[in-house]
Formats: sequence, structure tokens, C-alpha cells
Amino acid sequence: MSKPRLWITRRLSDATLERAARDYDVVINHEDHPGTAAHLIAASAEYDAIIPCHSEHFSPDVVRQFSGRLKIVANHSVGVDHCDLPALKARGIAVTNTPDVLSDATAELAMLLMLGAARHAVAGDKIVRTGAWDSWSPAFMVGKQVTGARLGIIGMGRVGRAFATKARGFGMEVHYYNRTPLPEDQAHGATYHASVESLLGVADFLSLHCPATPETTNLMNAGRFALMPRGAVIVNTARGALIDEDALIAALESGQVAAAGLDCFKTEPGGNPAFAQYDNIFMLPHIGSATRQTRDAMGFRALDNLDAFFAGNTPRDLL
Ligand code: DGY
Repeated sequence: MSKPRLWITRRLSDATLERAARDYDVVINHEDHPGTAAHLIAASAEYDAIIPCHSEHFSPDVVRQFSGRLKIVANHSVGVDHCDLPALKARGIAVTNTPDVLSDATAELAMLLMLGAARHAVAGDKIVRTGAWDSWSPAFMVGKQVTGARLGIIGMGRVGRAFATKARGFGMEVHYYNRTPLPEDQAHGATYHASVESLLGVADFLSLHCPATPETTNLMNAGRFALMPRGAVIVNTARGALIDEDALIAALESGQVAAAGLDCFKTEPGGNPAFAQYDNIFMLPHIGSATRQTRDAMGFRALDNLDAFFAGNTPRDLL
């Protein structure tokens, strides 16, 4: 029996590509440029399966132009806001993602951003690097301590819970908002808030871990920043759509928000050029899941989903 034809849109980890080449008739985009609408439309005629990343956009308009061969989109990501699920389902195309395996890597990055934002990592690095470090004083670069502080988490899914575990290790008091409260064996003593507004009222630090949907667009806006204790620190490793970026700048300018640690931006790649002048924004280029182990695990999870699908079984992560 011939192997299913698979298109891998980006250069995934070596282990993933070796395994894919063994089991599939695979074509890999070694150039590693994001697949365009035209690439996706052409691929739908040539391949049985695609492993894309969040850099490929399956909009309703693109999916409408698909030909009949494509059967499954096995995402190499947990977030699927780049896929119009109703449009893909309407064409009978299965969609999967890669939950669980990237939770710790992403939570680690959220910790880095939180600590870096709280302790002036950008400004401090710049001062040493540029040779501008010519004095020391007790008032120099005084930041915000996380130990004993109240952390608010919006979205207590896998990544939110992994971050809560790490934050507890730093002695933080964890509060969260989620659509439903967690059972105690998962909440580990974190305090549930029935509304975002209630959570924000206590959040000295806030970390976002919810998906980008029409309901969560600009979740953090001017009104909501104003509800937080003055001098709060905001961390976003989820999606740029969750923050009204102009409102964040205004909140930083006024001092309502002391600092932000951002791995996600409304415009990616590139980010928001207006952020560059703020040393109290610690920025990284959407690398939450970028560790060797996690990239292998994401690739293998996408392939596990494909294997199940082509064996006639329901993939573990079918959406
Ligand atoms: C995800 O998996 O959603 C990460 O943002 C990387 O794509």
C-alpha cells in the first residue's frame, strides 16, 4: 500500500523529520518560509495530510478554494486560532493540535518574562552592555519582588496550571479566573475568581493563558488595566490578540502598569514597533515552546495524530 502524502510546512526538529520520512511520502519545506495561501491551496490537491505551524493561515477564504485530496491538518501547535475550524470541518478535513507537551516550556518562558519584567532585565542588560554602568546606589534599578506577591492567571488550562506550579515554587499566592473552577486536586490551593474583574482587583502580577477567540480579543483593555493594583506586571505567552496594545502603552506611561513581559504580539512576526522605546517591556519573539525536548515532543505528537488517523482510529487530539 502506498504511503500517505504529507507536506510539512516548516523545518521541524530532526527527530520529527526522520520519523515522518520513514512513515510517510513526505515533502518538507526546508526553506522554512511560512506557507502562503497559494501554497496551502496547491497542497490541498497534492497531499493527504499537512503538518502546519501557527504561521500558516487556514482562513475560510483559503479553505473554500481547497481541492478534495487533503484529509487532515495535524497542527504542530497547541493554539489553533490560525485555523478556521468550522470551515475545515465543513470540508470534512480533520484537525488536531499538540496539547500538554509544550506546557512546561511555555510556563518556563512565562516565568522568565515575569522575573525579567519585574527586575528591569532589559534596562539592566543595556546599561552593562553599553558601558553606561558607572555607579551603584541603593535606589538603582529597584524592582518588584515576586515572593509573597499575588499572581493572577487568566485561563487555568494546561499551561496556566504549569505556570501556577512554578509560581508557587517562588512563594507566590496564586489566584485564577477560568470559565469553570478547577477541582481541588488541580487547583492546589489557588483561589478561584468568578469574574476577570474580581481577579484583576488582586493581581499584582497577571499572566494570560487563554486562547485567542472573538470573545478574548482585547481582553486586557484600558478599563481592565485600571482595575489592577497600581504598578502591576503583565505577562503574555498566549496570543497577542488578548491585549489592546495601545491601552498597554497608555497604562505603562501612566505607571498603572509597571512592566510587561511579552512573547506574543498583535502583529507577528515583527511585533509592535512602538514597544521598542520602552525598557520596561521585556520582549521575546514567540518562543514559548522553543526548547529541544518540546519541539521533538510537538513533532511526535503531530505524527501520533496522523498515525492514528491513517490507521482508521480517532486521533488523540482531534478537535
Ligand atoms: C502554540 O503551540 O500554540 C505555540 O504558540 C507555538 O505555535
